[in-house]
Amino acid sequence: MTVLLETRRVGKSFGPFRALDGVSMTASAGEVLAIVGPNGAGKTTLVNLLTGLLQPTDGEVFFQGKTIAGQGPVLLAELGLARAFQLIQIFPRLTVRESLAIAVISRRQRRWSLLSAVASDKPIQDKAREIARIFGLEARLDTLAANLSQGEKKLLDVASAFALDPKVILLDEPTSGVSTAEKHGIMETLMKAAKAAGVEGIILVEHDMDLVSAYSHRVMALSEGKVLADLPPDKFFADPLILETIVGKRRGAHAVGA
Ligand SMILES: Nc1ncnc2c1ncn2[C@@H]1O[C@H](COP(=O)(O)OP(=O)(O)O)[C@@H](O)[C@H]1O
Ligand SMILES: [Mg+2]
Repeated sequence: MTVLLETRRVGKSFGPFRALDGVSMTASAGEVLAIVGPNGAGKTTLVNLLTGLLQPTDGEVFFQGKTIAGQGPVLLAELGLARAFQLIQIFPRLTVRESLAIAVISRRQRRWSLLSAVASDKPIQDKAREIARIFGLEARLDTLAANLSQGEKKLLDVASAFALDPKVILLDEPTSGVSTAEKHGIMETLMKAAKAAGVEGIILVEHDMDLVSAYSHRVMALSEGKVLADLPPDKFFADPLILETIVGKRRGAHAVGA
C-alpha cells in the first residue's frame, strides 16, 4: 500500500504542556484511518501537524514521502492535502453555489478575480456544480448557506475542501453537532463523494464509535498525546481496556443510576 501521510516520533508542546509526544503513524492509499481519543487527547493538534497548520516541536511529518517542513497549509492543499474543520466554516449569507465557487477559486489562488469570476467563469461554475452533485447538494445550489440543515452545512463545509481534487482528506469530527439520525446519512454521502472525487485516503477524527466501526479500516487511539493503540476495528473493539480509556465506558454498557 502506498503511504500517503506519515509522522515519525512527532511531538508538539504548547509552552510547558506536551500536547503530543512521540507519535508515529502512517495513513495509506485506499484506507480510512480513524483517530479517536478523549477530549484533549491531541487529535486536532495531530491533524494540524499533518496539514502544516502547526509546526512540530520535534519529529517529522511526510506527505507522499517528502517532509512537509516549511510548506504552509495553502501549498499542501494545492499538493492534494485537504481538510475540513471541527467547527463548521461556512459563509451564511452566500448561496451553496457561491460558497463552492469561492472554494474553487480561492484554492486555485485566484482571489484577485474573486467577484467577477464567481459570476461568470464557466469552468468554475461547472466545478462548483459537480461538487454539489457528488455531495447531494445540487438541489440546494441557490439556497443560502444559513438556511441549510445542520447536516447540509456540514456537507457544504466538507464539499468546499473537495474543490482542489484532494488526494487525502482530513475530517475533524465531521458529524459533531449533528443528530444521531443524520450522522449515518452524512457519512454515507461523504464516503460516496470521496470515491467519486478520486480521494485516495481519508483520515477521520470521530467520537461516535458506531461510525468508527462502520467506516474505518484502522483505528488509532490517542490518549494524553500518545498513541495508545493502532489496530483494525475488530481488534480495537474487542479490547475492553482500550475502549475504557478511549470512550470512558465499556461499549454497550450503561451507567447505573445515571
Ligand atoms: N494552541 C494551543 N495552546 C495551548 N494549548 C493547546 C493549544 N491547542 C491545543 N492545546 C491543548 O492541547 C491538548 C490537545 O488538544 P486537542 O488537540 O485540541 O485535543 P482533541 O482534539 O483530542 O480534543 C489540550 O489539552 C488542549 O488544551
Ligand atoms: Mg478536537
